Amino acid sequence: MKVLAVYPGSFDPVTHGHLDIIRRGSRLFDRIVVAILRNPEKKALFSLEERRRILVNATSGIPNVTVDSFDGLLVDYAHRRGARVIVRGLRALSDFEYEFQMALMNRRLDSSIETVFMMPSETYSYLSSRLVKEVVRLGGSVAGLVPPEVERRLRARVGNRLKGSRRPSRGKVQPRRRG
Ligand code: PNS
Repeated sequence: MKVLAVYPGSFDPVTHGHLDIIRRGSRLFDRIVVAILRNPEKKALFSLEERRRILVNATSGIPNVTVDSFDGLLVDYAHRRGARVIVRGLRALSDFEYEFQMALMNRRLDSSIETVFMMPSETYSYLSSRLVKEVVRLGGSVAGLVPPEVERRLRARVGNRLKGSRRPSRGKVQPRRRG
């Protein structure tokens, strides 16, 4: 039986940590739908359409990945799509409590869907969309932590216009090929 997995999130914006999880998941499941939460109450930096386009470009090299959006309950969306798995990335212990609550609530809502946690490469274990936005806002470099398209868009959107924004202190951070 083919296993379809949903990888939900805000992806505001997508980072190499998210892409690492998507790549790992794509090797494990027959198909992964990256599902962007449509939430008008949560003020996002990038519009839904921008986030969708960025994700489509960033995952274009992975054949069994598609990008979609959803609102309402995640388990309802997963059920409609015929997905039996929800994928979530776990970085550090600090993620665990929130993720554990969500996974158990989702299981209570629909026991036919399993949440599978995957760990990104340790290279990205500290990485978050929130930190990436903050660093760019304050003039720092996020090269190697997000796709170049995201870095460009972030700079245009929130980067300060001071000349010579701060570079990483020990050369460029390169994304790891495989963990
Ligand atoms: O990237 P994020 O913001 O951590 O993703 C959170 C997300 C989208 C997975 C979560 O907010 C979600 O599933 N929202 C949909 C509404 C829902 O189903 N809520 C009940 C979950 S227990």
